[in-house]
Amino acid sequence: PVQAKIGPSILNADLADLANESQKLLDNGADYLHLDVMDGHFVPNLTFGHSLVKCLRNKIKKDFFETHMMVSRPQQWIEPMADAGVNLYTFHIEPVMEEVANVCRKVRESGMKVGLALKPGTEVQVVERYVDMADVVLVMTVEPGFGGQSFMANMMPKVERLRTHYPNLDIEVDGGVGPNTIETCAKAGANMIVSGTAVIQAPNQRNVINLLRDTVQK
Ligand code: DX5
Ligand code: ZN
Repeated sequence: PVQAKIGPSILNADLADLANESQKLLDNGADYLHLDVMDGHFVPNLTFGHSLVKCLRNKIKKDFFETHMMVSRPQQWIEPMADAGVNLYTFHIEPVMEEVANVCRKVRESGMKVGLALKPGTEVQVVERYVDMADVVLVMTVEPGFGGQSFMANMMPKVERLRTHYPNLDIEVDGGVGPNTIETCAKAGANMIVSGTAVIQAPNQRNVINLLRDTVQK
């Protein structure tokens, strides 16, 4: 019942040419764009913030933008990201464990959809009590912080459990996902597929995006 959606991550793209890179992904069949926002605190890496997202959004009109907030204070960026035109605001629950429900509500109120992200070390049970308040659950399949890492197949039981309990939930996987690992993700029940390196560095992006989608859909 859930639809396959492919969301390339631009983390390892040419960030100085992001508008063209993004347009190319859209032209090649991407369903949405996964933008990795890192604050150098929640993860040991830095990327970009809402002002870059806003500039990008002004060039690309499609409702197409997910921000994956790898930041210690997701509450702080809700309004700026909503104002920047973000469609889906996916934040990690780990730094806001005591106030997940509150953050979900604020994201909704801002007009964005809500995504809840889990680090590899976080039990899936923790997120289940908030699923009703969310549109997407993101199961990380690498330790967040860097593109190009190896896929953690041992995260698939989380996906399987969520799919069993929530047949209609959008379940996203992110980290090391590409042609070699998509079968595993699809079998477990993931339907929103983030893929960075495998799509960005492919000689033919369209082929990889189609292959990912076809594997999930079949
Ligand atoms: C990791 C990011 C991912 C990553 C995906 O912290 O959240 O989105 O960039 O890139 P690949 O597919 O190369 O692992
Ligand atoms: Zn990500």
